[in-house]
Amino acid sequence: MFRKKPIALALSTVLVLTLSLVGCGGKPAATGGDKEVKPIIVKFAHVVTPDTPKGQAALKFKELAEQKTNGKVIVEVYPSSQLYGDKEELEAAQSGNVQIIAPSVTKLVGLNPKFQYTDLPFLFPNNEAVYKFFASDQMKGLMNSLDKYNLQGLAVWPNGFKQFTNNKRPLVSPEDFKGLKFRTQAGKVLEAQFKSLGAGSATIAFGETYAALQQGTVDGQENTFNNIDTQKYQETQKYLTVTNHGRLDYMIIVNKSFWSGLEPDIRKALDDSMAEATKYAVEQAELLDKKSMDNLKNSGKMQFTELTPAQLGVFQETMKPVYAQFESVLSKELIDAAIKAGQK
Ligand code: LMR
Repeated sequence: MFRKKPIALALSTVLVLTLSLVGCGGKPAATGGDKEVKPIIVKFAHVVTPDTPKGQAALKFKELAEQKTNGKVIVEVYPSSQLYGDKEELEAAQSGNVQIIAPSVTKLVGLNPKFQYTDLPFLFPNNEAVYKFFASDQMKGLMNSLDKYNLQGLAVWPNGFKQFTNNKRPLVSPEDFKGLKFRTQAGKVLEAQFKSLGAGSATIAFGETYAALQQGTVDGQENTFNNIDTQKYQETQKYLTVTNHGRLDYMIIVNKSFWSGLEPDIRKALDDSMAEATKYAVEQAELLDKKSMDNLKNSGKMQFTELTPAQLGVFQETMKPVYAQFESVLSKELIDAAIKAGQK
């Protein structure tokens, strides 16, 4: 049998080791003095496309973080549920398989049901009210409630107000919802919202929603102009009613052990990058909301229903009982703080 001579064996070991180091990551390692230091890889997973406010802000965070840490941190952004979908991403963040996720706040219902504040119908009159609530003590409390799950809330990014779509008929009054079934993101508040309109609902992961609409598992859904546009729901949903009845916003969440284990200067650079990316997220949300609304209107595929104030008032009255139903879950203090954020 052929046996390698000791010298040949040593040389081939060195070669294999060298090759495997070169192959590892494929990116230049930052240098710390004479020693090669491997970059810290931060995986950032989300479920939407790159041309969304969240997708754009995630890429902005990557750019800033890599710049500010001088390449000591590499941020890998995985859009469109490529790495994890709605069902898996929270667990993956808790176990450290992914370092950053950005679920819509309502998807945190399993950790703290108060995150469903966002689904109370017509809670916020405009974006400014929403941003004010983001900066409130109530929001701080919600963020802190993630600590015990080894998660840390870093920031809140907006997307926008939700609109209803369906493939059966124009939705002009609550009557029109009877007998229809809608996709929801998560939680009992959204279920109750549709019940108040006489409609059924089913929770479906974002990545599976297009197929569910196409196959008729559900007749409709609610989402922002930008998500409707970038997911191409106009291909299966003929009718859109502009209601601005609910919000879609995101909690940017990191694995707490990972974040607190970072060197202070690295963590500061990442915190600064997150603060800048958050400002960018706000700009993008407002810009893309308008752009997508125009895209959908001009697509020739959707019939838009714009309600009169009186018609909108009927929706508000019909959906109002949801508040009383969930006051004990959400707390009166939290609901009042959100309402106050919308008052002049
Ligand atoms: C949804 O499930 O509709 C949204 O939360 C998706 C997203 O991340 O915008």
